[in-house]
Amino acid sequence: DAPEALKPRAPVVTIMGHVDHGKTSLLDALRGANVQAGEAGGITQHIGAYQVKAKDGSVITFLDTPGHEAFTEMRARGANVTDIAILVVAADDGIKPQTIESINHAKAAGVPIIVAINKIDKDGANPQRVRERLLEHEIIVEAMGGDVQDVEVSALKKLNLDKLLDAIALQAEIMELKANPDRNAEGTVVEAKLDKGRGPVATILVRRGTLKVGDVFVCGAESGRVRALIDDQGKQVKSAGPSMPVEVLGLGGVPMAGDTLTVVENEARAREVAAYRQEQALKKRTAQAPV
Ligand code: GTP
Ligand code: NA
Ligand code: MG
Repeated sequence: DAPEALKPRAPVVTIMGHVDHGKTSLLDALRGANVQAGEAGGITQHIGAYQVKAKDGSVITFLDTPGHEAFTEMRARGANVTDIAILVVAADDGIKPQTIESINHAKAAGVPIIVAINKIDKDGANPQRVRERLLEHEIIVEAMGGDVQDVEVSALKKLNLDKLLDAIALQAEIMELKANPDRNAEGTVVEAKLDKGRGPVATILVRRGTLKVGDVFVCGAESGRVRALIDDQGKQVKSAGPSMPVEVLGLGGVPMAGDTLTVVENEARAREVAAYRQEQALKKRTAQAPV
């Protein structure tokens, strides 16, 4: 894409951290913070990724997949979709093995980290200790003279969620994330399943271009035509631009997380590419099979 075709896009954020440090609670709290007042029941639909608006109006995309899976599986498949990693550390529990693993994953992927020191509402909370212990793993937060942002939060009491969103927005601004919305879409499968009523359904994170109803595509080794697009609120939409997560209906089969969706010119071309990819996948499996 020509540089002048590139437009700012939302950052894609993954939440990582040790077991029980509050990853799911934080994701839910952030999502809940964005639910329109009066919308009964709050969370209407779960599609594995969602977007939140920060106070300054900037949009942030959160991936719902556990950080480890997102990194190991998706990266193994060559799909590095994460722009920013939120490292959740419970202020009462501190640095634990999976905290260190998360740091290593993010570093290996070259993804900047923002530290969310969670559970600051708890009696045993010691956020300063967390900051100090992070030094041993070369995470130097701003308060310690480094350039990694850290925010003290409570997912349970919904404290400082705005500050965390602001920190993400700031990090994204520094990164100048851009994509061309005016081209055939390309996206990554975040999750996929066979739905009893609707057939194969995939949550696609659009990477560039704009995905539209009616588009013909190849997705992994499957081909299809977009029958419907459903956003993170469960609403049907006509199109989805860069960094937008969207449920896609109209797949010929169920693709795998990490697969790439590519819009192509016509169905003949889609079938051709899908057949080629199936052949490649088969070859790979045959080559790996024990003799
Ligand atoms: P796994 O997915 O199992 O690794 O856990 P997780 O990191 O998603 O943690 P989860 O959100 O399930 O929270 C674990 C426990 O910590 C739950 O009992 C939460 O209610 C509690 N918890 C999460 N955030 C906070 C917080 O800010 N304060 C307090 N006091 N408890 C919290
Ligand atoms: Na848990
Ligand atoms: Mg969880």
